[in-house]
Amino acid sequence: MKTIPNAWLGCTDKTIPLVGFGTAVYPLQPSQTMRESILRAIQLGYRHFDSAALYQSEQPLGEAIAEAIDKGFITSRDQLFITSKLWCSDAHHDRVLPALQNSLQNLGLEYLDLYLIHWPVSTAPGKHEFPVKKEDVVPMDLKSVWEAMEECKNSGLTKSIGVSNFSCQKLQRLLATAKIPPAVNQVEMNPLWQQKKLREFCERNGIHVTAYSPLGAKGTIWGCSQVMGCEVLNDIAKARQRTIAQVIF
Ligand SMILES: NC(=O)c1ccc[n+]([C@@H]2O[C@H](COP(=O)([O-])OP(=O)(O)OC[C@H]3O[C@@H](n4cnc5c(N)ncnc54)[C@H](OP(=O)(O)O)[C@@H]3O)[C@@H](O)[C@H]2O)c1
Repeated sequence: MKTIPNAWLGCTDKTIPLVGFGTAVYPLQPSQTMRESILRAIQLGYRHFDSAALYQSEQPLGEAIAEAIDKGFITSRDQLFITSKLWCSDAHHDRVLPALQNSLQNLGLEYLDLYLIHWPVSTAPGKHEFPVKKEDVVPMDLKSVWEAMEECKNSGLTKSIGVSNFSCQKLQRLLATAKIPPAVNQVEMNPLWQQKKLREFCERNGIHVTAYSPLGAKGTIWGCSQVMGCEVLNDIAKARQRTIAQVIF
């Protein structure tokens, strides 16, 4: 695999590999399957791994990292960019730092490269459920949750902090009080949903945008087949003698 290029992260001196390996699987796969596929990904050259408390992938990711070091695929954890995310039931000021500490414990790591608010939604504290039940949703106190995210960064337990699934309006609200601006907004993005307005907003504000479900997440409960089944993309792929997935990337 070719070396994956990096991008600068917002206004920081940190970089993020532009292609990451997602670890969300639904229905959940055995921990061993996850560990083996992540280990293979490290061997192939992936250096950026996207995890979340919700995905239950933190432990297998941590085990794969330890094994990759043992096997000499990488020399240290510092060669990787590890992201995890705060689940909605922990999106309450006093639960944020303990949630990060719990993620680090699952991973067996001392720090994350990036910690994200998974959704701009809070649910009943500690009720770790997916899909979220409507009656469990409570108003998010974005200012105080972000203050706790800033404490996470200041504590050194994560190198950078960011958000996921935030609209321009939500980002504007966040930026109005943030002392540390979000380095990243991770959102669903693909050739059929290009998020132009959001990307322009983020560019103006120094926020790196990461695309999730870039292939349309076909075969998952949250995805659709429109992207991989798109005729225009198929024509481009044929003309260039590439697969649709290669054309998308
Ligand atoms: N922040 C968020 O709220 C959020 C939400 C969703 C996802 N994510 C992140 O984004 C990651 C990726 O998103 P995703 O899994 O939802 O969607 P995706 O990457 O768009 O789609 C994954 C699907 O594409 C298929 N696929 C993968 N490579 C392919 C290729 N080369 N050719 C043809 N098909 C291919 C796979 O099918 P097979 O398995 O059948 O091969 C898989 O079902 C997740 O793992 C997670 O880390 C974040």
